[in-house]
Amino acid sequence: MQLPEHGANPLRLYDRLGMEVPDRVLDFSENVNPLGVPEGVRQIWPELLSELPHYPDPDGEPFRSAAADYHGVPAERVLAGNGAAELFAVIAERYRGRTALLIHPTFSEYKATLLSKGATCIDFVTDPAEPEFPEDRVIKKMEEADVLYLCNPNNPTGVRLSVEAIRRLAEHGLRTGCELVIDEAFMDFAGEKHSFIPHTEEFPHAVVVRSMTKMYGIAGIRLGYMIGSGERIAGHRKAVPHWNVNGMAARIGKLCFGEESFRRRTVRYCKEERRRLSEFLETAGCIVTGSETNYISFRPRQSDGLYREMLGQGIVLRHTENFLGMDGTWFRVGIKEREKMEILKEALAGWFGEHSSS
Ligand SMILES: Cc1ncc(COP(=O)(O)O)c(C=O)c1O
Repeated sequence: MQLPEHGANPLRLYDRLGMEVPDRVLDFSENVNPLGVPEGVRQIWPELLSELPHYPDPDGEPFRSAAADYHGVPAERVLAGNGAAELFAVIAERYRGRTALLIHPTFSEYKATLLSKGATCIDFVTDPAEPEFPEDRVIKKMEEADVLYLCNPNNPTGVRLSVEAIRRLAEHGLRTGCELVIDEAFMDFAGEKHSFIPHTEEFPHAVVVRSMTKMYGIAGIRLGYMIGSGERIAGHRKAVPHWNVNGMAARIGKLCFGEESFRRRTVRYCKEERRRLSEFLETAGCIVTGSETNYISFRPRQSDGLYREMLGQGIVLRHTENFLGMDGTWFRVGIKEREKMEILKEALAGWFGEHSSS
C-alpha cells in the first residue's frame, strides 16, 4: 500500500494506515525550529488582540518594510505573502501554458501549483547520494524551459547550492530566456551570506521566496515574502488577494527580524545536532545528505519496513515515497530537542541492529 502524503499531521497518518496511535508520538516529519518561537513573540501576544477589530495594512506593513530593511532592499521590491505557499501559487500563474524545469527530489508544491495553472513541468531527477550538483546538464536542460525552480537549501536533502553556481545558471538563463524562482525557505539556517537576494538587482529575471515559518516556528500564522525587481513584484502584487497578510502576523514578522540571538542559537543548535545524528547514521552504514538546515535525509542499508516499524514505536519519520529520486528508500528527520533525538537514535539503533547483515 502506498503511504499517505503527510505534512505535520501524524494522527491522521495513523488513522489512514489503520494503526493504533501509541501513547507517545514524536513527530520528526515536520521541520520547524526545534527551539520553538522567539520569546519576543510570546511577550507581544496579548497585545496583538488590539489588532483584531482592524483590517490589516494592504501591503502587509509593518512586516514588508522590516523585511526590506533586513535585506537592504527598497520596500517596493518586497511582496508579503500568507506563507511562502501562497506566493508559489501566485508565481505559478506567470507560467500558465509555459514550461518549468524542476530539480528533484524537491518540495512538492512547485509542481502542484504549476500543474494547477496549466504549466508543463520537466522533471530533472538527481541522485541524493551524489553530492555534486549536475550543473552542466541542468544548464543544457534550461534551454527547454521558461523557468527553473531551485530550492536552496533543498528540501528534503538540506543541501545548499553556492551563490556562484546560481549566478552561472542565472547568466545562462538571461541568454536563453529562462527565469529563476529560488525558494530560500530554509536559508536562515545556512546563513544570509548564501542568499541570492543581493543578486536579484543584477538578475531581474530571478525572484527569491522566503518563509518565516521555519526559523521562527510560526507555521500557524502563515507568513512569507518574495523579493525581486520592482516591476516583477508590482506584477505579482496584482494577483494576491487584498489583505492577504493578517495584522497579527505582520507585527509578529517585524519583531522576528530583530531576533538575532535567537537565530544564532538556533543555527548553532541545529548544526551540533545534525553532526551528532549524521555521525550516528553513518556509523550504522546509512548514506546521509550534507544538510545545512534543521533536517537531514538518510538512506539505510535496509529501508523496507522501517517507516512502519518506527510508527509503531511512536516515531514519525518523513517518508519519501512522493519525492522523485528518493522513492521511499530515504527518510527525512527534523532536528528536535536533545532528549527526543536520543529516543530516535535508540529506536533506530534497534532497527539497525536487527538488519545489520542486509
Ligand atoms: C522548501 C519549502 N518552501 C516553502 C514552504 C512553505 O512555507 P510556508 O509555511 O511559509 O508556506 C515549505 C513548507 O514546508 C518548504 O518546505
